[in-house]
Amino acid sequence: MCGIVGAILKRGQVLQGMIEGLRVLEYRGYDSAGVAVATADGIRVAKKAGRLEGLEGVLVERDFPDAQAGIGHTRWATHGPPTDLNAHPHVDDSGQVAVVHNGIIENYLELRDELQAKGIELKSDTDTEVLTQLIGEELKDSGLAVAVGRALARVRGYYAIAVLRGGSSPEVVCARQGPPLLVGLAREGTWLGSDVLAVIPHTRDVIFLEDGDIAELTASEVTVRDMEGKVVKRESQRVDWEASHTGKGQWPHFMLKEIHEQPDVLAHTSFHRIDEEQGDVRFDEGGWTDADLAGIDCIQGIACGTALHAAHVTRSLIEGLARVPVDLDFASEFRYRDPIVRPGTLALAISQSGETADTLAALRKARELGARTACICNVAGSTMVRESDSALMTQAGPEIGVASTKAFVAQLVAAYLLAIRLGRARGVLSRDRGRELLNDLRTLRPKMEQLLSDDFREHVLGIAQRHQGVKGFLFLGRGINYPIALEGALKLKEISYMHAEGYAAGEMKHGPIAMIEAWMSSVVVTGHGLMAQKVRSNIEQIRARGGPVIAVGADRESLDLADEAMEVPDCGEWLSPILNVIPLQLLSYEIARLRGCDIDKPRNLAKSVTVE
Ligand code: F6R
Repeated sequence: MCGIVGAILKRGQVLQGMIEGLRVLEYRGYDSAGVAVATADGIRVAKKAGRLEGLEGVLVERDFPDAQAGIGHTRWATHGPPTDLNAHPHVDDSGQVAVVHNGIIENYLELRDELQAKGIELKSDTDTEVLTQLIGEELKDSGLAVAVGRALARVRGYYAIAVLRGGSSPEVVCARQGPPLLVGLAREGTWLGSDVLAVIPHTRDVIFLEDGDIAELTASEVTVRDMEGKVVKRESQRVDWEASHTGKGQWPHFMLKEIHEQPDVLAHTSFHRIDEEQGDVRFDEGGWTDADLAGIDCIQGIACGTALHAAHVTRSLIEGLARVPVDLDFASEFRYRDPIVRPGTLALAISQSGETADTLAALRKARELGARTACICNVAGSTMVRESDSALMTQAGPEIGVASTKAFVAQLVAAYLLAIRLGRARGVLSRDRGRELLNDLRTLRPKMEQLLSDDFREHVLGIAQRHQGVKGFLFLGRGINYPIALEGALKLKEISYMHAEGYAAGEMKHGPIAMIEAWMSSVVVTGHGLMAQKVRSNIEQIRARGGPVIAVGADRESLDLADEAMEVPDCGEWLSPILNVIPLQLLSYEIARLRGCDIDKPRNLAKSVTVE
């Protein structure tokens, strides 16, 4: 979704740093970009629909002035199409203030009518321009921070905004209600951004703003106030991500780089947490001791997209290893139905970003209904981490590719650890069984590496070449690998735009079997034990109807039955989703590459969906 960057500096020029920040934010998805800088005469703005290169062209053409204070934005259109005029920043009628905004102003139509009645002419279709004009109006009889507070008090909706006032002593104010916003404290001045990645090239000391905060930035300090104007204390945190994490290095795409980082992600997320002696897991994060877990009778999983697929695997792990019942829902459904939350419920949100609007809303709803809340999350300091009673951090590092890969694997690893912790805390898993399960995890890394060898990638590429022209794909799996079928289909759809459906293999004969023919390829995730047998008969049924089958997994008999095989080392049933998903990620990647798709920035998608 939209990205914000900005700064007010003691020394140096702001423009280059802002453009670099916007470049880092490109991964979130956008359709136009813009910047505003403060000059002695006021504000200068450049904005352009399309990619950042277009904006850079405008800056060169116009010999855009450099300055020490500025704000920038990448827009993902909500109100009005992606045009130059609708791109942010927007400037008020007097030309004094510029505003960039993430979020939605719900009452913008009534505010627009009011402004138009006063003779203020609005130039764009956006809700943001309405807010900009309101701030400009309030500025007639107050300072910038007060004017922003007064304008925001009239607004219904959610926002992260940055406001720049030009003149000989430029001012920068930012505010948050909903979408994330943070301030970075650097030696050369103060930065702001909607994402840690936008500020880490300058500093790792960050203040995460909270809902209702209005921050006034100078080049040497930050004052945060609440909506009533009372100063509130916000501690800065040191983030442990490196600026170098934001680069592609030698890789052609972030997605491929991130797929290859998965063995490291396994190690970083799990190895330091393993208590070999006790056959147990220790989390540094609070909230996971035996005492903490004693009152949990059931779990309500909530998530979106790929994270929801991780929640499905989490259900199998927690029910299978810890015998705690788990219910699941799309966060977007949970938040609007009238759910029954029983006493003793732990609401467990899973999210890479920790900022997904639907997941946050569902978690808040679960809390209102009496649940204790927890999250599995990849971004320290994110809203979800701060709002949950306990957080379990995945250590995937920044995920830049829009299609989630390594964050998914990190979520599966975290879920495995959590299932063991719960099983040990409840006395369901013995110390010896805990040790065995942890040993299986320890030995997983070389098996993951086998799937990332050049030879294996070549093999997958061959399959991709033979199937890239088919009409569509059916992904099938059962039990703990059913969500891997869902994830395989989602990955393929997202980055190659090919039609793909993920199905529980047992459901095949209840409908999808009608689609089987020579131009419909089926990717079947093989199983273990009884599930392996069941999946074998799916393969036979598809082949009997002339449908080509690509089998993935460790079950030799299933692989032999199929037309094509992506063989995965055996690692036992509980960990099999982690290995099985890797060939599916690679298959999607190769098909998308062959079809010439923009793999890291698939059309219409945003990395972090912070609006509904
Ligand atoms: C798919 C993908 C999305 C996200 C979903 C939730 O590749 O990335 O489906 O998984 O939008 O995002 P988070 O995990 O940030 O809550």
